[in-house]
Amino acid sequence: MIGFEITGSGRYLPGRPYTNDDLARVMETSDDWIRQRTGISQRHYCPEGVGVSELALPAAQRALEMAGRAPEELDYILFNTMTPDHVFPGSGPLLGAALGCPGVPALDIRTQCAAMIYSFQLASSLMSSGAAKRILIVGAEAHAGFMPWRDWDILDGADRRPSEADWERATRHRGLAILFGDGAGALVLEAKEGGGAGLLSLDVHSDGRHAHKLYIPAGFRSRPFVSQRTVDEDLMIPAMVGRDVFRTAVSRLPDSVRRACSQAQVKLENVDWFIAHQANQRINDAVRERLGVAAEKVPSNIARYGNTSAATIPILMDEMRRDGRLKAGQTVCMLALGAGLHWGAAVLRL
Ligand code: UT7
Repeated sequence: MIGFEITGSGRYLPGRPYTNDDLARVMETSDDWIRQRTGISQRHYCPEGVGVSELALPAAQRALEMAGRAPEELDYILFNTMTPDHVFPGSGPLLGAALGCPGVPALDIRTQCAAMIYSFQLASSLMSSGAAKRILIVGAEAHAGFMPWRDWDILDGADRRPSEADWERATRHRGLAILFGDGAGALVLEAKEGGGAGLLSLDVHSDGRHAHKLYIPAGFRSRPFVSQRTVDEDLMIPAMVGRDVFRTAVSRLPDSVRRACSQAQVKLENVDWFIAHQANQRINDAVRERLGVAAEKVPSNIARYGNTSAATIPILMDEMRRDGRLKAGQTVCMLALGAGLHWGAAVLRL
């Protein structure tokens, strides 16, 4: 495999953070419950009328600026999202146009929270085949569009309570609603021969038998694909069997990490950072304990952003690059599991 370096990173979080207490204004929940069960204290939401291509734009621009590259120097965009601007086309071409590099191939990838593992595999393969040398990988999400409340003004402090029906509806979906937040992260990868940086190994899986444990029921099985029924029955809100997804993550991710590390001939104790998808702090704590890895090697930012799905890993990597934790020569193991189910681990040398 041809090597590559991550030469730039960027992130963008829209608007102000919304605290757990803000959410408790529209449904039956509490700051204590959310912190204890998930580790989340706050999250950001994409404003209405804004799409993920627009969240991704400043993140991508910051990544390009750090890499010292102009948008037209890119030769591929990999855009990861489960909340695209439109049902079609994908958000990748919208980002390419906004960046000012129309014509650059832009591929949307639909592997939800496992996005970065798949993107690194694809980026590495595109480089090895000679199809691309400079690739922008973006993860961006606008989950606000499926939140189960209409009273955004109450979240923003309006002095009134939701109707009883609205309160009950939001409470019915609270396990899901408290988890997700919006944002974007971007990485610039550049092919580099020699030097040893790049992807050392990858362990990646999909298992559609579990697809209905986390999915949006609305879709093209219905005619028309959006109708009054979609709204009346909340078919646009993800259905999630949270406990099952939790258990699957805790059992599959340690195996995946072990396989990727063994394939890369890297001992767990020689990995500098385990950069895990930020779905729930308790998932990452349990995976870490099963692997017997020190807590300080598994960085976390879920308290501030919640679960930003495809964006968690690039946002975390950007924070770590900018504060000096991530450095050239380090060995990193990424791990993630998400709707699909898709999951896996990748070992990288920076
Ligand atoms: O991004 C990748 C994909 N997603 C995931 O990885 C999510 C994985 N799952 C999870 O993170 C957790 O399962 C949740 C955070 C979604 C839920 O946590 P849990 O510890 O599995 O709780 P639970 O669903 O088993 O519910 C326990 C109790 C229930 O009450 P009863 O039946 O015991 O009386 C729930 O009704 O907690 C209640 N509950 C809540 N209470 C206050 C559920 N959500 C809330 C809430 N606030 N937001």
